[in-house]
Order: sequence, then C-alpha cells, then structure tokens
Amino acid sequence: MTVSPPAPRTTGEDVVDLYLRHIGSGRAVMGRVMGGMAEIGSEGPWIHADDGRRFLNFGGYGVFLLGHRHPAVVEAVHRQIDTHPLASRVFLEPVAARAAKALATHTPPGLDFVHFVNSGAEATEAALKLARAHGRTAVITTRRGFHGKTLGALSVTANDTYQDPFRPLLPDVTQVDHDDPAGLEQALAAHRDRAVVILEPVQGEGGVRIPRPGYLRRVVELCRTYGALLVVDEIQTGMGRLGTWWGVDAEDVRPDIMLVGKGLSGGVVPIAAMVATAEAYDPFGRDPYLHTSTFGASPIACAAALATVTAMEREDTVARAAALGARVLDGVRKICAPYQGGLVREVRGRGLLIGIEFTKEQAVGDLLLEMIGRGVLVNHSLNATRVLRLTPPAVVDDAALELFLTTFTEGLRSTAARIPV
Ligand SMILES: Cc1ncc(COP(=O)(O)O)c(C=O)c1O
Repeated sequence: MTVSPPAPRTTGEDVVDLYLRHIGSGRAVMGRVMGGMAEIGSEGPWIHADDGRRFLNFGGYGVFLLGHRHPAVVEAVHRQIDTHPLASRVFLEPVAARAAKALATHTPPGLDFVHFVNSGAEATEAALKLARAHGRTAVITTRRGFHGKTLGALSVTANDTYQDPFRPLLPDVTQVDHDDPAGLEQALAAHRDRAVVILEPVQGEGGVRIPRPGYLRRVVELCRTYGALLVVDEIQTGMGRLGTWWGVDAEDVRPDIMLVGKGLSGGVVPIAAMVATAEAYDPFGRDPYLHTSTFGASPIACAAALATVTAMEREDTVARAAALGARVLDGVRKICAPYQGGLVREVRGRGLLIGIEFTKEQAVGDLLLEMIGRGVLVNHSLNATRVLRLTPPAVVDDAALELFLTTFTEGLRSTAARIPV
C-alpha cells in the first residue's frame, strides 16, 4: 500500500488551546514543552506532525512492534468495518473465535482460553477477578511493577505517586521485590492457598529490569508449593517485543494466567486479552455473564488481533525483533560507553525493549527533548524516573536505524554537556 504523508497543516497552537480548554492544562503544557506539534498521520516507524515534519518513533510505549498502520492489519480492519464492526452479542462471533485460536496457537502449551478486553488494565482486572473466583483474594505484586491504572490494577501497580491519591485500594496486597524469590516465598508462606501472584517477566515501566536466569522457574515452583495462582503480565513484553513470543519463553515456563495487550492491537485497534489454562479459566468459561464488557471482543478489534498474529507469522516478526534488538542494543551500548560511570549507570535490554539508566533523573527529560528536537521519539519510564526507554518497531530499516544512532549520539552529547556529574 503506497501512502503519501498528510499535507502539513498549522493547527498546532489551536490544538494546544483546545486541550487547555477541554482536556486539561497538564497535557496542554506537556504538548507545548514537546514543541507544540500535533500528530496527524503515521506509517511504518514514522509519525507525521502538523508542521510538516516527520518523527522516527522509537517509543510508542511498546505498542508498535509492527509499526504504524501495517497494511495487512489496516486492510483486515477496513474489511471488518465494511461487513460487521460491532456485534449484537447475541450470536457467536467468528472473528473473535478465530483470533482466540490464533493467539492460543502461540501462547505456551495449555494456555488455551482467551478473554478479550479493550485495554491492558482491563486484562489485569479480569485476572484479579478470576483469581478471586478461585478464592485467591490475597495479592502479591512486585515493587516497581506496572499493571495499569484502573482501581484494581492500580492496587498492584506499585508506585505511591499513582496510588496515594486514590487510597484505599484493594485490601490484602503485598509488595515484594522483583527478582527476589526469598521475599516472594515469605509472602506466599503467609498466604498459603489463598494468594495470586502478578508480575512481569521483564519490568517495562519499572525501567527494563531483567531478572536473573532461573527467577521465573523458581516463581512457578513457589506458586505450586504454596497453592498460589500465577499471573504473568506480558502486556508490554509479549507478542514478540523481547525477540521471543513471550517473556516466559526464556525459561520455558507456563503461568496459570497470562496478560496480553499493546502489540496485539497491531498498532491499529486497541485490544488486550487475558489468557488462561482450562482449570484457571473455568469460572469465566462456564458463566459468560460473570465478567463482561459491551465492547470486549468486538469484531473490529479481533480482526486487528487476528491480522496481527497472521502478519507476525508471515513476516517472521519475532526473529526480526530479536535481530534488530541486538543491533540497537549494541549501538546504544557503544554510544553510552564513554559516559558509563558518569552520567550513564547502565544500558540493558532484551529484544526491542531497551532501557538506559542514568545517574541523574534530569538526564531523561533533557535527552528526550533533545531527541524530539532532532526528529526521534523515545519514552520515559513511569515507574523508574532515571530510565529512558526504547520500544522501536521491528520494521525499522538500516537507514532509520542509522538515523536513530546518529541522533542518539548527538542528543546524548548535548545532554551530557549540560548536566554535571
Ligand atoms: C506490563 C503492563 N501491564 C499493564 C499495562 C496497562 O495497559 P493499558 O495502558 O493498556 O491499560 C501496561 C501499560 O503500560 C504495562 O506495561
């Protein structure tokens, strides 16, 4: 599909003004700080702004592994709009059934049952409720873990900044350190046969924290020993982001429940899912009204998910993510090497989830703006203020990778010159 960039417009200031009057001053001010542009188009790894510039998107909070507007996903969604975008919810929906099968083809063996929802936080909610239906009312989560911001999900998103304004949250939530099996065991022992554990295989918003080898396997063992349900949140890490279909693949383990989101959308229509074993899923499986949502599993979103999985199979996206990720990580490490021990504390990553941890919090915002000024988007991390995060698409070509590396070199040089260590 050939696409020409949208014609430049000069609506930037108007949009800021509309935000100020109707959406919120905080977001409006942020928009101004970022340059005051509005984004009006996208294609592959590129975002088009209303001032005629285009930006290479190495951010996107992990959504755009297939890039923006992947032609096969867009075509499937168009087709679905032309036939049956939303369902009556009286009859069965073939696209939902096919999308569930396609997803379950790639989840670890035994994770066969799929409950589609509209966002990552909703997937977390579904998992917490499913756990309660099994009597697992004590929740164990990890510090710096991120699982969404709806009330239940927020209860397990371990960050006081987001939690404090909304307390009291869900009761009986225990926080343990990520990658600390001993701490987890202590919490599990205190809640034998009534706990659900939720964690990410690699913490994303927590600053790209990769646990030591053996951690996930030990978590599974501990959950079995103490009769806990295990929910692995793959909303950011799954769907190929880490260069494997799932983060759990690194240790070949199978949780009771897995959460999927972000990339499942193909970057086109929001959709997320809770995937469970037959045993764990049983309460939802038997009673279709136990947990429902009007728009959940809509044909239009399921068409996007189905096309996404199919495109990933056809284009070998997971292997591409692994290969490109190794090149990005290697390039970023080389660029950061002269600053290591000074402004840069550590560069870490797996596949196309890469974090650069600085010694100064200020460096993240500064470099982010430097990069935007030079035409490249990157992200901060919600639960780790010193970590700049890269979640590029797998469809970045050599020229775009070169552009990123050059821009990162120049941006980091400027930031380092401004921030004393
Ligand atoms: C691991 C993880 N879980 C859950 C969520 C929440 O997803 P959503 O923002 O779609 O509600 C996110 C979002 O960043 C996430 O990274």
